Amino acid sequence: MIVGKPLFTTHQIQNRVQELAGRISHDYAKKELLVVGILKGAFMFFSDLVRNIEVPLTLDFIIASSYMKTQSTGEVKVFYDIRGDISESHVLLVEDIVDTGITLNHIRERVIARGPKSLKICSFLDKRERRIVDVPMDYIGFEIPNEFVVGYGLDYENRFRNLPYISIFKKKA
Ligand code: IMP
Repeated sequence: MIVGKPLFTTHQIQNRVQELAGRISHDYAKKELLVVGILKGAFMFFSDLVRNIEVPLTLDFIIASSYMKTQSTGEVKVFYDIRGDISESHVLLVEDIVDTGITLNHIRERVIARGPKSLKICSFLDKRERRIVDVPMDYIGFEIPNEFVVGYGLDYENRFRNLPYISIFKKKA
């Protein structure tokens, strides 16, 4: 297994996260946000993002899974969902990466069914050329080519999530 050199360094990531948080703070001025991280992959991006957002916020998580090894199963399971009534909330969903769009589309429809005041989506990475389901995205960290990446929360078989940068992952040299 090979983890290549960084596709995005820690420095590039932190700069981009600050830019996104700045835009979000601007767009939600005078509003209160409910920021919802989609776990596990978004945990690092989520925590960097929320500590740079400058409007009042509450937070929660959705724990969902749809991925086996490096292939999407196309099936989404939700193990934990946002608690309580969200009908008065401006919800911002925070995802690690959008690949086929199946996971995010499923989660988006679940959240919309609960009638939030508004819903926007922020994903750290976007693998646009792999998209099967079109999901409206409001904030994107980086667009990437069709490569499997790890680090900064993203895993291969639950490993490499702790790397502070993003690398392309190859199974064999
Ligand atoms: P989608 O449903 O195909 O859009 O897949 C989204 C989920 O697949 C993400 O939340 C990730 O957990 C996982 N995923 C997709 N591409 C990658 C990758 O390159 N590295 C690690 N996980 C990935």
